[in-house]
Amino acid sequence: MSIHDDVEVVLLDTETVASRVRALGAELTADFGERDPVLVSVLKGSLVFLADLIRAMEMPVSIDLMEVSSYGAGTESSGQVRILKDLSGPIEGRHVVVVEDIIDTGLTLNYLLKYLADKGPASISIVCLLDKPARRLAEIPIGYTGFSIPDRFVVGYGLDYDERYRNLPYVGVLKPSVYGGAPPEG
Ligand code: IMP
Repeated sequence: MSIHDDVEVVLLDTETVASRVRALGAELTADFGERDPVLVSVLKGSLVFLADLIRAMEMPVSIDLMEVSSYGAGTESSGQVRILKDLSGPIEGRHVVVVEDIIDTGLTLNYLLKYLADKGPASISIVCLLDKPARRLAEIPIGYTGFSIPDRFVVGYGLDYDERYRNLPYVGVLKPSVYGGAPPEG
């Protein structure tokens, strides 16, 4: 039994993702040059993206990790966010680059941006691998986008369904039988 058997369609194959991530790394290198940014990534979905992105950046960077969860039991993002793991270092006066796997409603990131802004960074920029603009509820100033994708629930390259499929090397859509019915929202 392979995890690949559960995939209905590959939306973005391994090489397509890899070459876009390399291009994003080059863009960030050009834009941030000597500014020594701190890349703040949100666990767990952004882990794979972060790991590849920093290796495509040819300049000094530091990283920090946060983990957040939405309040409420529903699958819909509520915008009420609980911080499970906070930053491990100060960001005051630093150029912060938030590294996100996917922006859907934008509510989680909207909360996080305010939280980070309160800590007095020199600037905050956002790089996201996947943008699902169809369901956006909060306006997010995304500086760098990997791919804009349709409103489908995707897994792989760090993204999960029920904590599984993060290790798929591509981004895909699961077979409906995996969900036992309708695909999850968000
Ligand atoms: P937002 O607050 O609605 O923007 O939620 C963003 C978070 O929801 C992401 O960081 C993911 O953890 C999760 N999410 C949204 N869409 C998907 C998807 O298609 N697959 C897996 N996780 C998703």
